[in-house]
Amino acid sequence: MERIADLLTEELKTAFTAAGYPADKVRVSQSNRPDLCEYQCNGAMPLAKTAHKAPLAIAKEVVEHLSGSRRIDNAQAVAPGFINMDVKESYLAEYLGDMAASSRMGCDEAEDPMTIVIDYGGPNVAKPLHVGHLRSAVIGESLKRIARYCGHKVIGDVHLGDWGLQMGLIITELQERQPGLVYFDESYTGDYPQEPPFTISDLEEIYPTASKKSKEDDAYHAKALEATAQLQAGRRGYRALFQQILQVSVTDLKRNYKALNVDFDLWLGESDAQKYIPGMVKKLEDEGLAHESQGALVVDVAEESDSKEIPPCIIRKSDGASLYATTDLATIVQRMQDFHPDEILYVVDKRQQMHFTQVFRVAKKGGLVEPDTKLEFLGFGTMNGKDGKPFKTREGGVMRLEVLLNDIYEEMYRKIRENQEGRGSEESGEDEARETAKVVGLAALKYGDLSNQASKNYVFDLDRFTSFEGNTGPYILYTIVRAKSILKRYEEAGKKVDQEAFLPVNDPNVKQLELECARFNGVIADAFAETAPHKVCAYIYNLSNVFNHFYHETRILGEQDEKKQASYIALLDLTKRILETCIDVLGFSAPERM
Ligand code: ARG
Repeated sequence: MERIADLLTEELKTAFTAAGYPADKVRVSQSNRPDLCEYQCNGAMPLAKTAHKAPLAIAKEVVEHLSGSRRIDNAQAVAPGFINMDVKESYLAEYLGDMAASSRMGCDEAEDPMTIVIDYGGPNVAKPLHVGHLRSAVIGESLKRIARYCGHKVIGDVHLGDWGLQMGLIITELQERQPGLVYFDESYTGDYPQEPPFTISDLEEIYPTASKKSKEDDAYHAKALEATAQLQAGRRGYRALFQQILQVSVTDLKRNYKALNVDFDLWLGESDAQKYIPGMVKKLEDEGLAHESQGALVVDVAEESDSKEIPPCIIRKSDGASLYATTDLATIVQRMQDFHPDEILYVVDKRQQMHFTQVFRVAKKGGLVEPDTKLEFLGFGTMNGKDGKPFKTREGGVMRLEVLLNDIYEEMYRKIRENQEGRGSEESGEDEARETAKVVGLAALKYGDLSNQASKNYVFDLDRFTSFEGNTGPYILYTIVRAKSILKRYEEAGKKVDQEAFLPVNDPNVKQLELECARFNGVIADAFAETAPHKVCAYIYNLSNVFNHFYHETRILGEQDEKKQASYIALLDLTKRILETCIDVLGFSAPERM
C-alpha cells in the first residue's frame, strides 16, 4: 500500500494542475503543528515568483479544487501560503481496513529485492563476549530483520575474529601446561583426538593468563608470535588445535547469542578468508595499485577531495604477515564470489571508521566489487557507564555479557514483583515471573540501545531501562500486554474480533491513534532506507503513548453500540499487531502478561 502522505500528495498534485500550476514539486507531509492540522503542503510557496502572485492567493486557488476530495477534509489556505488539511474520517477508516486485511499491514515487499550481506557481531574466538560486542549484535540483528521484512535477501555473517595472535597465545600456554599433548609432537602423523583437551572455562582462563604473560615476558611473546605464524603456515597439530578451540568457543558463542535472540546465517571468520588472500593481492599488484613502501605492500587511497588525511592501506607487512585490512579485503572477494551481493553492510564500532574507509576504497579501486556494489559502514558509538566512560564492572574490569544480562534479569524481576504488588494484581508464580523477567529484561536492554541513534554514545542506565514508564522497552511491552488483555476479555464475552471492522468515528482520540497506525509502512521503509532502527523505536513509543491515551479516554469493553465497539476493537487489534511486528524487527518479543 502507498503511504497515506503519498496518496494525499497525489490529490494535491491534481489540484495544483487543475488550478493551472506545475505540480512536480508538490509534496504533502505530516504536519509539524498537529494542533492546527494533520497534514500540510508548502507547494504554493516556491511558485510565487514565476506566477507573479502571492503564495496565499495560489494556495487559495488550489484549495478550491480540493472540495470534492475523497481523502481530504478541512483543506485551508493559511498565511503566508501553506495548505493545511486533515484526512477524511471515512477515508481513514477505509485505509485502515485495507491495512488490517493484509498480513503485512500495508507494508509492501520490495519488488526488486536486493541481496545484502550484513557483517555484525564480530566476536573474537576464545575471548568471552563482552559488552563491546553487544551493540554490534543488537543493531545488526535489527537491521537484518528490518531489511528482511522489506523483502530483501539478507545474509547475516558473524565474521569471527579467529585468526590473530590470540590463537598463538592459547597454543603457547597450552604447550607450557601440557607439553605431552600429541598436538605438539611434530613427528606425529596419525589422527588427532576427537575430544578437545580443554573446556570453555579453561579457555576463558587460559587466554587472559597468556595475554598477561606475553605482555610481561618478551620470550613468551616471541613464542606466541611464532606459534601464530606456524598455525597460519599450516602446521598440522596447531591446525587441529585451532579447530578445537573454534568448536568449543563457537558452541559457547551460539549459546550467548541465543540468549540475546540474535541469530546468524553464516558462522564464517577471518580464517575462512585466508585462501582468498594470494589471488586478491595478485590482482591489486596486476592492476598496478599495490606497491612497495618501506618493505611493506601498500595501496594509496587518498583522494583530492579528502578533508583529512587518509593513509595508504597496508596489505602486507614487511615480515610478510597479513593484517586486518588484508583479511577484510579477502572476505569481500569471498562474499562477491558466494553471493554477489548488491550491498555489504558492516556494523562495527565507529572507531574503526578509518579502517573501513581504506578497505572500501581499495575494494572499489581494485575492482574487487562491482562499481555499483554498495559498501556501507554503520559505525556505532560506545555504551557508557553513568560516569560517561565506557561501561565497566564495579571493579573497573571488562563486563562480561552474561553478567550484564543477569543483572538486568534480576532488576527486572524485582520491578515486575513490585509492579504486581502495586496493582494488587494476582501474583504470578516464581517460575513464570523469572521467565517474564528474561523476556522483558531483554527488551529493556535492546530497546535501551536501539532507541538511540546508532552512531551516538549512550549511557547504560539499568534503573531507567527497566522502568515501566517513559521511553523504555518495558513500557512498550506493557502496552502490548494491555491490548492483548482487552482483546482476550472481548473474546471471553463471546465476541469475535473482526479485524477490518473500521467505522468512521468522530472522536479525536480515536483519530489520533488511527493516524499513527497509518504511518506504519512509511516508518518501516524509512528505517530500512536510513539504516535506522531508532526510527522504529521512536514510532512505537509515540504509538504506545497515543494508544494509552485512547485507552484511558475511551469506554471500550463497556461501549453499548456494538458496531462502534467492533471498530474500537479492530483499531486495538491493529495497534497490537503493529507493535508486535515492530518489536519483532527490533529483535525482542512480549510476554503474555507482566
Ligand atoms: N572482531 C573485530 C573486533 O572485535 C570486529 C570485526 C568487524 N568486522 C569486520 N569485517 N572487520 O574489533
